[in-house]
Amino acid sequence: MIKTILITGASKGIGKRTAELLATDGHQLVLGSRNTSPLKELQAQYPDQIILQDTDVTVKAQVMALAETAVAKFGKIDVLVNNAGLGHFDLIAEANTDDWDQMIDVNLKGALYAIHSVLPGMLAKEKGQIINIASVAGHHIFPRSVVYCATKHAIRAISEGLRLENQDKIRITTISPGAVNTSFAENISNENIRKEFKSYMAGGLTANTVATAIKQCIDYPENVTMTEMIIRPKR
Ligand SMILES: NC(=O)c1ccc[n+]([C@@H]2O[C@H](COP(=O)([O-])OP(=O)(O)OC[C@H]3O[C@@H](n4cnc5c(N)ncnc54)[C@H](OP(=O)(O)O)[C@@H]3O)[C@@H](O)[C@H]2O)c1
Repeated sequence: MIKTILITGASKGIGKRTAELLATDGHQLVLGSRNTSPLKELQAQYPDQIILQDTDVTVKAQVMALAETAVAKFGKIDVLVNNAGLGHFDLIAEANTDDWDQMIDVNLKGALYAIHSVLPGMLAKEKGQIINIASVAGHHIFPRSVVYCATKHAIRAISEGLRLENQDKIRITTISPGAVNTSFAENISNENIRKEFKSYMAGGLTANTVATAIKQCIDYPENVTMTEMIIRPKR
């Protein structure tokens, strides 16, 4: 079945690979990130299936506008892949508090805005799926990534709350990858920690592995919900 799927943070890494896989399957995609230009080539391949809209998930009005575009163009939203996110790693005592603000704004508040933008439509038709991308850092606490861990624990709490409130109507899925070899580590503001994590993540999962798991969760029959998935690299 062809679905309308909204993906946040679609311009790179896990989000971009997910968009590529889902486009190949014929789905209609509405793709947001602050800069969607890396997706232009994909859109050119599937012009009738893909809409790009620059969207900063920290700006509620932009997230609402992304969902409105999806409904205006395709008439509905079947799936939200709530993927936009970033991490800054440092000791709490030494951290730059702007980094905390950014993680909380993007990973937590941005994810909530996206949920809020699609939930009323899904509940009205009693059908839909929200896939929240958490992390192994949502299951464990790691020194130097405590605030990132807190945002990802929060995503799991929100997922479980959403599931309990709405499980008779919509499917709620949480996917928690371990290290994935994407540009994620490029954002880490502490230079030494950035170098360390770049090499750690280089040995991690591929974006394709996580995207394939996201696709699998979408592909299950409508009466099946994969509620929680943890994917770790074998090291
Ligand atoms: N890589 C890992 O090891 C790993 C492990 C576990 C979980 N995750 C999670 O997986 C998700 C995707 O990460 P990734 O590894 O694919 O990282 P990535 O390659 O850095 O991609 C992150 C995506 O998020 C977007 N983004 C960042 N800030 C945004 C904002 N304010 N508004 C909208 N989009 C924004 C980026 O696009 P723009 O820059 O254009 O906005 C980009 O498309 C994140 O939630 C991350 O926490 C990653």
